[in-house]
Amino acid sequence: MKIAVVGTGYVGLVTGTCFAEVGIDVTCIDIDQKKIDNLRNGILPIYEPGLEEMVARNVKSGRLHFSTSLAESIKGADVAFIAVGTPPGEDGSADLKYVLAVARGIGENIDGYCVVVTKSTVPVGTAAKVRAEVENALTKRDADVEFDVASNPEFLKEGAAIDDFLKPDRIVVGISSERAEEVMRRLYKPFLLNGHPIIFMDIPSAEMTKYAANSMLATKISFMNDIANLCEIMGADVNKVRQGIGSDARIGTKFIYPGIGYGGSCFPKDVKALIKTAQENGYQMQVLQAVEGVNEAQKEVLFSKVKKHFGGDLKGKKFAIWGLSFKPKTDDMREAPSLVIIEKLLAEGATVSAYDPVAVKEAKHTLGDTITYAKDQFEALVDADALLVVTEWPEFRSPSFEVVGRLLKQKVIFDGRNIYDAAELREVGFAYHCIGVKTDHKEPVA
Ligand code: UDX
Repeated sequence: MKIAVVGTGYVGLVTGTCFAEVGIDVTCIDIDQKKIDNLRNGILPIYEPGLEEMVARNVKSGRLHFSTSLAESIKGADVAFIAVGTPPGEDGSADLKYVLAVARGIGENIDGYCVVVTKSTVPVGTAAKVRAEVENALTKRDADVEFDVASNPEFLKEGAAIDDFLKPDRIVVGISSERAEEVMRRLYKPFLLNGHPIIFMDIPSAEMTKYAANSMLATKISFMNDIANLCEIMGADVNKVRQGIGSDARIGTKFIYPGIGYGGSCFPKDVKALIKTAQENGYQMQVLQAVEGVNEAQKEVLFSKVKKHFGGDLKGKKFAIWGLSFKPKTDDMREAPSLVIIEKLLAEGATVSAYDPVAVKEAKHTLGDTITYAKDQFEALVDADALLVVTEWPEFRSPSFEVVGRLLKQKVIFDGRNIYDAAELREVGFAYHCIGVKTDHKEPVA
């Protein structure tokens, strides 16, 4: 089989590389010449564990190609994936201009039967628009070429994308013809060997599945954050409550960790887009509106704790921040809670020294030199009035608290991810604040 993947962002690059890995001939296409040149030289636009090696291996084997020419790459392709960005517009709805431009380009260039698949997360009804664009372009050049459209949402988690792709829980494909179903089944066959299901359905249902999945997961998180905040007020411990409810299989242990709000490229964007789609169609997604509201507020919770601890005055104080990316194992800074926390600290006249294992370059695009960037996690602590744990990178989980206490000016930790043991820290003299647990001892106020 031969496929083309348009868009070499996170989704397109992982998709193309993983298909090449199982022996399919793949061309990844992007209009950005520099990006393509870099990829040909093994330089990736994103950080994803294992991806660089996988790209190199498949380029070397001649199965993975990079090109700026959609016209050339689409010829003879059995499947064309559209994996370009759908940035949120001002009103929260997904902007489809890139998706539809690619659809037009495909219509202008295909020379034989091709399944045109939307892989980007797009609102219900987009595949129909893609079909219209392709058809229109074919008519314009008077070409008699058959094609089908399909919707194949991705469920990749950043930091674990390769594993998620190679060993998916399920593959969802929306189709409207048996021919397209047969092509898509053949394409995904290598990933189904271990009994993972491929679920075929109509196209609108496949498009909705992606939004429903992300919205349900975001709902779990906001729900737990709400419960955590109430636990704090009532003197309960959310860590225990989480275990107590998670052992009920109907609830499950995953995605019920409270924290400082969800970020990233998917949840915030998709929740907003689904609320918007509903509104445009005369329906209010009441649960999701609350999910979104709780999340916005949760991003400020750690800052509020800092402010309260220091009696409201942060002027001239220095804060160490561990972790900048929206979650571990990625350099993605999109909608990262760290940005909200840092902005608030700086607005109060405080300074920030931050460390992140991989996201500093990305962070600098937004934060510039408004903060200092430490070369390791301990350098960040020097003379700081407190440590804020913002992203739960594995290397932050078990530091020497003796060293942490020695480097900090004051032994104070604000843990936005509940990774430490409160009793252990208090025993060695730290004031420790986390999410969803009542602080039951007298805090030293500076
Ligand atoms: C998510 C979906 O998991 C994936 O299926 C979809 O395709 C894209 O969006 P991703 O954004 O990479 O993936 O991150 P994920 O691991 O799902 O975490 C999202 C956010 O939720 C992070 O900010 C994380 O810190 C937060 N989170 C997650 C919690 O606060 N608590 C949890 O229990 C789980």
